[in-house]
Amino acid sequence: MTTISLRDLTDEDRAILFEFQQDPEANHMAAFTSKDPTDDAAHQSWWNMVMRNDAITKRGILCQGELVGSVMSFTMEEKLEVTYWIAKEHWGKGVATGALGQLFRLVKTRPIYARAATDNKGSLRVLEKCGFAVSAEEKGFANARGKEIAEYVLRKDGA
Ligand SMILES: CC(C)(COP(=O)(O)OP(=O)(O)OC[C@H]1O[C@@H](n2cnc3c(N)ncnc32)[C@H](O)[C@@H]1OP(=O)(O)O)[C@@H](O)C(=O)NCCC(=O)NCCS
Repeated sequence: MTTISLRDLTDEDRAILFEFQQDPEANHMAAFTSKDPTDDAAHQSWWNMVMRNDAITKRGILCQGELVGSVMSFTMEEKLEVTYWIAKEHWGKGVATGALGQLFRLVKTRPIYARAATDNKGSLRVLEKCGFAVSAEEKGFANARGKEIAEYVLRKDGA
């Protein structure tokens, strides 16, 4: 059985999560990524901002006790949103679905929102399993695609 749990992030986790975010396939899926996922200095300054911002709930995701990703909630344009990233070698084991389920027991604000490129089938399925439904479609510049693409805004109202 796969055991998934969340724990607080520490500065020692940054390098591991930074490594996960280098994967080209993951970047293509996520689409709305940082300008340059290999830019360590930019990642460090983003990390510093996240770690000192108490309004951002951030957790490391453990699978069988090993750090395999992260999940966060943050406020964007007065709406609470979630984001998550799982290391590729751990895809398809229910990690994202399990981690989000646990986050929603910590973060009880509703509605809560998420965004996904309209072709990010994996993320859309995770969100559907976690009780989100599409509430809007928008367009935005996707760094990982180098062009403007469509994204869904999804909303969850229930527990
Ligand atoms: C999208 C992502 C979070 C999925 O994580 P995961 O741990 O593999 O997801 P789960 O194992 O919980 O999968 C949940 C469901 O999604 C489906 N799924 C996962 N990845 C899929 C894919 N690439 N294509 C189609 N379905 C997919 C699973 O089959 C499962 O559905 P099922 O229960 O009906 O079989 C992961 O691929 C990832 O981190 N990608 C890169 C970053 C990213 O896209 N983040 C989200 C930004 S919006």
